[in-house]
Amino acid sequence: MSGVNEIRSTFLDYFRREGHEVVSSSPLVPRNDPTLMFTNAGMVQFKNVFTGLESRPYSTAVTAQKCVRAGGKHNDLDNVGYTARHHTFFEMLGNFSFGDYFKERAIELAWNLITKEFGIDKSRLLVTVYHTDDQAFDLWKKIAGFSDDRIIRIPTSDNFWAMGDTGPCGPCSEIFYDHGDHIWGGPPGSPEEDGDRFIEIWNLVFMQFEQITKDERLDLPRPSIDTGMGLERIAALLQGKHDNYDIDLFRALIDASVEATGVPAEGEARASHRVIADHLRSSAFLIADGVLPAKDGRGYVLRRIMRRAMRHAQLLGAKEPLMWKLLPTLVSEMGRAYPELQRAEALISETLKLEETRFRTTLERGLNLLSDATNTLHKGDTLDGETAFKLYDTYGFPLDLTQDALRGRGIGVDLSGFTDAMERQKAEARAHWAGSGEAATETVWFELREKLGATEFLGYDTETAEGVVQAIVSEGKTVDSAKAGDTVQLVFNQTPFYGESGGQMGDTGSIATDNARLAVSDTQKKGDGVFVHTATVTEGTIKVGDAVALTVDHARRSRLRANHSATHLLHEALREVLGTHVAQKGSLVAPERLRFDVSHPKPMTAEELRVIEDMANEIIVQNSPVTTRLMTVDDAIAEGAMALFGEKYGDEVRVVSMGTGIRGAKVNRPYSVELCGGTHVSSTGEIGLVRILSDSAVGSGVRRLEALTGESARAYLAEQDERVKALANALKAQPGEVLFRVEALVDERRRLERELTEAKKKLALSGGTAGGDDGVREVAGVKYLGKVVAGVEPKDLKSLADEGKKSLGSGVVTFVGVSPDGKASAVVAVTEDLTARFSAVDLVRRASEALGGKGGGGRPDMAQAGGPDGARATDAVEAVAAALAG
Ligand code: ALA
Repeated sequence: MSGVNEIRSTFLDYFRREGHEVVSSSPLVPRNDPTLMFTNAGMVQFKNVFTGLESRPYSTAVTAQKCVRAGGKHNDLDNVGYTARHHTFFEMLGNFSFGDYFKERAIELAWNLITKEFGIDKSRLLVTVYHTDDQAFDLWKKIAGFSDDRIIRIPTSDNFWAMGDTGPCGPCSEIFYDHGDHIWGGPPGSPEEDGDRFIEIWNLVFMQFEQITKDERLDLPRPSIDTGMGLERIAALLQGKHDNYDIDLFRALIDASVEATGVPAEGEARASHRVIADHLRSSAFLIADGVLPAKDGRGYVLRRIMRRAMRHAQLLGAKEPLMWKLLPTLVSEMGRAYPELQRAEALISETLKLEETRFRTTLERGLNLLSDATNTLHKGDTLDGETAFKLYDTYGFPLDLTQDALRGRGIGVDLSGFTDAMERQKAEARAHWAGSGEAATETVWFELREKLGATEFLGYDTETAEGVVQAIVSEGKTVDSAKAGDTVQLVFNQTPFYGESGGQMGDTGSIATDNARLAVSDTQKKGDGVFVHTATVTEGTIKVGDAVALTVDHARRSRLRANHSATHLLHEALREVLGTHVAQKGSLVAPERLRFDVSHPKPMTAEELRVIEDMANEIIVQNSPVTTRLMTVDDAIAEGAMALFGEKYGDEVRVVSMGTGIRGAKVNRPYSVELCGGTHVSSTGEIGLVRILSDSAVGSGVRRLEALTGESARAYLAEQDERVKALANALKAQPGEVLFRVEALVDERRRLERELTEAKKKLALSGGTAGGDDGVREVAGVKYLGKVVAGVEPKDLKSLADEGKKSLGSGVVTFVGVSPDGKASAVVAVTEDLTARFSAVDLVRRASEALGGKGGGGRPDMAQAGGPDGARATDAVEAVAAALAG
């Protein structure tokens, strides 16, 4: 008999041969539906193709779609383990026609598959049609040769399939298999239809309409087909089983569980093994699709599933975490059909182990509390809500786990008491935050946080998603709508937009609804988990409750990702080169650059910077995958993770690892391991290149690196290159010779300056005339050299005066220089033998007065002064002569 894997491929191959495109399963977290918690049918990924909103290069398709029904509208969680056909995870096989074939071909294809390919006994089959669908009735008669009594008309919504309150819908026809009269039950539509004898195996939906609102229904552009066949059910039938849990796939999982626990799958343990096998599938596939256990949203549904299974592992007496041990069996059964399971195996394994290890620390105590609280209760009694809440709040028991634990004894839970206790706790939390400073200014966000819960962030895995507008805030107050021209802040139930944190700037992008367009200029996280999108309405009106398509600016986000990953690489390289005292003190990850502050007491040398940059680039070229895992803080630190500055961590943290170490203790170990909630490249090569621009001081003991990556780094280097080429051009040299040539030019210039100074001095001393008036005269019996000198810098006047003294031997020297802006400087020098008679300081004051200045200063043998009136330079020379003359 065929195994699950063969049945799946038989189905896909059959429709491929019939001209259908084989399309991969879409992820369990729907990208194209704002309200759906998990993908729960094959048609979800084609929703917009049916309505004509989206077109694909094919008009018929076939899929094996992963589905989860736990949480949200379709929730099978409570029944799983206790029935033959409930699952939280299942596969739906389906063929689709988007305006291509309709009823006749759909029925023909289905009939041929089940009777010819699968070889199911025709006499066991019967079908239902919607009561008014004569066409389908006639077609079944014609194609299957059924007598009228085997085509049952059903007047209820059972035979009118709708995706939800809105969306594609149409009448449907279901194919049933009769397992035989040894099993109790009646055909569909009969009073005994809920029995187990007649089992639905395939639903053919004749998609004809689109439900727009409750009362408005439009025709689809073209009639279409959507079908769904549960793989586990058809496998049971084909393997001669009545119970889905008896098929090969489940047998393998249950056997693994039996082997690991040593407890046979009999009696009460039967349900526990089934719960574990089923929940392992949903947990593993959800983790592979990016969901991790969390306190809210999808992550909380995952946690509930995991903990429910973990309690059953405990019931089986497992002393150690169990779920992760069964994972290899699941991967070997399903990994070929779903390679994402293989890719994520390590992450799934670690996440299962972590959750089970943590939960086991409180599970036993919680179960003891539960048994104390219920030992006097009997069948039909209820557990008080207060205890159920305590189990939830203190021991991590999701409500359904408590219900499940009491189910066998027929004891219920006081749900309103549970809700009251939860409300009371929220009220206390509210009173608490109302007193904090942050709350005072940002009250609206805390109120929204409490009312709406945390926003679910989808942006680790996708840059586009649909969501629903939960709140619009304008100037700190909630409003119902915003119109073109308004700039407002919006909150959605889920978003791919990253809210600024951990130094990484928030995302920008666009929002579209049926009636409006908005441009998002920033995203921030407020009030403990509310993602606030600041956006300007460019067109139309947006209202609370609208469905929105959210699109992150891809190019900008890619650069943010590259820059964020580069900070991790630089961080590690800094520690390798400078020492482990280097710790991050802050960072800014912007799209165009990154800034990274670290503790380090002194400037980095050019050589250190070069090595740091080289090391980071070495890991970039390695192009190794970047992995994210969830761990306890302690485990993460034990793994060598570096905690980021200023982040608040819950008990579990995301740990981002990248690169493979090349040197020292890191050889063949992850190069960088950090606790980080940011978004990163998926392999280091995407960073392209990192270039450090500068190292500067910010505060004592803190250095700041600025760097560029990828295209910005390349553009920067190209610009530098252009500069060198232009320089070479100007020097008429090769780029390689520029440095040498510039050094030579600088030397040359220094030499020329020196020569020029000397020449000017000579010229000044010689009087500037070829004929020999050297400017020396006798005044009051001493030699006086008094001169206005041109072209000599004020700083050179003193050395010139020294030379003047030398040439006189004994006498007084006055030099007055005039600068290009008309100001004058004067120097007076007196030879040593005359300082008793004349003071240079007194003499220079006279010169200064003549120049309109206020005296000067110096020593008796040399003094200097200035004055604004350069035109009177000669008067200054004469004023000193007059002073000498007495
Ligand atoms: N969409 C249909 C179902 O889920 C086929 O039953």
